[in-house]
Amino acid sequence: MKYVLLVAGTLALGIGAVSAQQDIVKDRQATMKATGRALGGTLSAMAKGDKPYDQAAVDAAFATLTETAKKLPAMFPDSTKGLKEGTEYASSPKVWDDKAGFTAKIESFTKAVADTKAKVKDLDSLKANVGAIGKECGACHETYRLKS
Ligand code: HEC
Repeated sequence: MKYVLLVAGTLALGIGAVSAQQDIVKDRQATMKATGRALGGTLSAMAKGDKPYDQAAVDAAFATLTETAKKLPAMFPDSTKGLKEGTEYASSPKVWDDKAGFTAKIESFTKAVADTKAKVKDLDSLKANVGAIGKECGACHETYRLKS
């Protein structure tokens, strides 16, 4: 009886650990979606003229991007390698196999966000500088994100 309880307990712990890992994957996808809304739904939309320039919304979008940059280094623990969460995208194993390259992408993204944030004051400076951020998203996705 003791043994059965022990096995059941160990199994429950094991399942708990797996779902905690899935939660980390869901969290990073949610962070990336919010990042997509900040760039595509706000900054790029304003630069294209689809939305009127709104400084408060610009500030909020940069706050989201800065938050993403801060979170990125901890978003991919080893325990989540190979896990997928049924969205259109997944992380490439290269995130873990090429940590130095992935870290370099996080660093250049972080720098681009800070530099662009410092330059954007109005619609013209947004138009001139927003592309630098999109380039960083694409550069990381090209190697480290897969279509699942
Ligand atoms: C340092 C690398 C890196 C940078 C920089 C980065 N991403 Fe991602 N992104 C990823 C990875 C890896 C995934 C796949 C995550 C997963 O499913 O495990 C992803 C997934 C996504 C997804 C899909 C989310 C889903 O599951 O539906 C969107 C949208 C996205 N990123 C938008 C952006 C935007 C917009 C930027 C730039 C402002 C950006 N990302 C910058 C690595 C990055």
